[in-house]
Amino acid sequence: MINHKVIETNATLMLVLSLVVVSIGGIIEIAPLFYLENTIEKVEGMRPYTPLELVGRNIYIREGCYTCHSQMIRPFRDEVERYGHYSLAAESMYDHPFKWGSKRTGPDLARVGGRYSDEWHVQHMIAPRSLVPESIMPGYPFLARTEIREDDIALHLKANKTVGVPYTADMIKNAVSDLKAQANPDADGGEALQKRYPKTQIRDFDGNPKKITEMDALLAYLQMLRTLVDFSAYKAEDNLR
Ligand code: HEC
Repeated sequence: MINHKVIETNATLMLVLSLVVVSIGGIIEIAPLFYLENTIEKVEGMRPYTPLELVGRNIYIREGCYTCHSQMIRPFRDEVERYGHYSLAAESMYDHPFKWGSKRTGPDLARVGGRYSDEWHVQHMIAPRSLVPESIMPGYPFLARTEIREDDIALHLKANKTVGVPYTADMIKNAVSDLKAQANPDADGGEALQKRYPKTQIRDFDGNPKKITEMDALLAYLQMLRTLVDFSAYKAEDNLR
């Protein structure tokens, strides 16, 4: 009792001791983070993006799709019922930069892969109001006309490797052929591509076999979202708020 009185009647001593107590908690929380290589829980199925998906992702960023679309489903019942399983940290572990977004003018896209056919997406990207009359999304018809650049794709893989995405020398060396193999099911190299990047969807996404367009790349990216992780292994219900 007497000791307590000493502390409680001396503001400076009280402040110093409070700081000591708070720093102990802080050190216990923060120090281990410096020794952990990774704080992201490993999730089966996640892999780096294929070259074509990466090109599509770059187009997604270039066109500012993230200003209207989030890619982060929060663990709330209403979100999970609308979009599907809430987002896992590992799903954005190869994203530089990430695209969680903070605004939903349009719906979240983290689970859009496989929800619509390629034909639907092509039509929707060219003229959104032809499918959704009340849509305020702008059309991107030029994507279907613009061929992608192939010559710098290996550099994009390398840049991602520099910031920690585990692209192998083999992936970087074969970047251009992997890019072509994904958009053309008749080309050689589909098998090798599938081996390097499991669960890759190989097809002519935009319905125009003559060219590999930005539409091909964007669709390869959108149709891949959600499909890498097997969510039947994770019960969303257990963690809902
Ligand atoms: C000005 C805001 C805005 C921008 C920018 C925008 N969208 Fe949208 N998007 C919307 C709205 C609103 C909807 C809902 C109506 C509709 O389906 O068109 C939508 C719907 C979608 C859908 C259908 C989603 C679903 O689950 O039904 C996809 C896919 C999509 N957008 C992709 C894109 C892509 C890719 C880009 C960038 C090239 C983009 N959007 C840019 C506003 C936007």
